[in-house]
Amino acid sequence: MKITSAVALATLLALACAGRKPVQQNKGLKDYYRSYFKMGVAVGPADLSGPTAEFILRHYNSITPENAMKMGPIHPEENRYFWRDADSIVNFAQRNGIGVRGHNLCWHEQTPGWMFKGPDGKQVSKELLLQRLKDHIFSVAGRYKGKIYAWDVVNEVIDDDSTRLLRNSLWYQICGEDFIPKAFEYAREADPGAKLFYNDYNTERPEKMERLYKLMKKLVDAKVPVDGVGLQAHWSVYEPSESELRSVIKKMASLGLEVQITELDMSVYPWEKERRQKRPGESDVLTPELEQKQVEQYARVFKIFRENKDKITNVTFWNISDRYTWLDTYPVPGRKNYPLLFDTDLQPKKAYWEVVNFKK
Ligand code: GLA
Repeated sequence: MKITSAVALATLLALACAGRKPVQQNKGLKDYYRSYFKMGVAVGPADLSGPTAEFILRHYNSITPENAMKMGPIHPEENRYFWRDADSIVNFAQRNGIGVRGHNLCWHEQTPGWMFKGPDGKQVSKELLLQRLKDHIFSVAGRYKGKIYAWDVVNEVIDDDSTRLLRNSLWYQICGEDFIPKAFEYAREADPGAKLFYNDYNTERPEKMERLYKLMKKLVDAKVPVDGVGLQAHWSVYEPSESELRSVIKKMASLGLEVQITELDMSVYPWEKERRQKRPGESDVLTPELEQKQVEQYARVFKIFRENKDKITNVTFWNISDRYTWLDTYPVPGRKNYPLLFDTDLQPKKAYWEVVNFKK
């Protein structure tokens, strides 16, 4: 027997004696899902060194800049771009041979004020706004050309009011709906190799699903260069139902669109849109009951993802672990949430084991 196999055998025996199952060293989410889809996570530049960087590389083969590529942070003034953070994320991915999902090129939030102001200080004209959108997309998608495999080109243009299709944002007020196809056309021209996505939330709710279908069908029929739909998947232990989730995936695929799960987290509280204060005595403890609900909900949705591996090409989590999640501040500032697969010490939760120990 060679020395190395003797050592391996001794290690296995020691583990068996200690009553632990031998777990393949360093196996991460991406390895369990290698034959299904890419596994991703939203990151900031501070995550890319030390143990967090190792953790990211162990579990994920795709990263999304949580904020660094949004219009406000990356293009704060008309003639000034701030590339440092986005560059460091793209360079990290390149160095380590993992992919980047770009996020995002056109949104109604985190957009700099100057974008909508004309040279005379009044509201910008449609013509100039579209020219600015083009310049922005050419600069950002152009800079990272060939290094980003999918872009969220347009984010969240469907209205929260279910009687309206499009959100009454400044983009819409100034351009009508034209900014949507234009954004996709500019992005295709700037980086022809990137897959282009429309990205939105609550897409499994029947009334929003209908409007999403309407919008996507319109774009597809008009031959707008859109390749897929991003289902943000800011979900909770209470929704979506299995049939809602299956139905949106099927509907989007029926239009010939790829599906990516772009911002997955599983809040332990019911969804609320409006911000509010924490109520006196409101609990924010992860009780065993809530954790069990979360385990079951993660198991349900991942089973559906796996069954749809021919349609789903990426599953990205929105943040790394329960140590930091945007849901600690939204919609109730100071109410701790526990929406991810890793706890506040970066240790796998029960839901993690449920997600990776699957038979089919
Ligand atoms: C939306 C955006 C994301 C992020 C989340 C909240 O889903 O697409 O970029 O801002 O809201 O963190």
